[in-house]
Amino acid sequence: MKFFVDTANLEDIKKAYKIGVLSGVTTNPSLVVKEGVSFEKRIEEILQAVPEVESVSAEVTPDAITAEEMIAQAEELIKINNNDKNITIKLPMTLPGLEACRYLTKKGVKTNVTLIFTPNQALLAARAGATYVSPFLGRLDDISEDGVQLIVRVAELFRIHNLDSQIIAASVRHPDHVTRVAMAGAHIATVPFSVIEQISKHPLTDQGLEKFANDWKKAVQ
Ligand code: E4P
Repeated sequence: MKFFVDTANLEDIKKAYKIGVLSGVTTNPSLVVKEGVSFEKRIEEILQAVPEVESVSAEVTPDAITAEEMIAQAEELIKINNNDKNITIKLPMTLPGLEACRYLTKKGVKTNVTLIFTPNQALLAARAGATYVSPFLGRLDDISEDGVQLIVRVAELFRIHNLDSQIIAASVRHPDHVTRVAMAGAHIATVPFSVIEQISKHPLTDQGLEKFANDWKKAVQ
């Protein structure tokens, strides 16, 4: 399973890139608004900051409702940074979103269909040619449903029907989510940088380092 970082915060993106584990970046309107920056400018900065990743998702804005409006926005977005091939157009899981997905896929543009909460929605997005589908697990957990189970079912469905779309486990909130979606067969988990930090740590790693340092100090003295 690959890691994408789920943020529009440039510092967090650079930190994740620096440690060499990053395959992509996902953003959404809420994450961009939180940064208080211009949307297009920030996408351009992200593309420049992470040149070797496979995908940077830029989501069409909530005022694009029809497929035509989404496609018009996508066409502007793909011009950013000289038609960088990594830019991925993130589209909502709506009928116009699927229509735009099919259109852009035919044009060779990468797509990510977002806000998926059922296996049927994932199936539709895959059939519309989505490069990536993003089932959200944390938001299902928030309403007392089993979010990981959604990833299990989507992965199984895609295996049975040999579907090419990559599954991005989204709305990942903590380390246990990461392990469980990896075991379920998600191709990618998109996670906040804080989750990457959390999964890098273990108290026994810290204790071990402390002991090595103490023993070393004694021997050197
Ligand atoms: C995915 O692409 C979304 O940006 C994201 O994972 C949403 O996560 P949240 O439910 O924690 O806001």
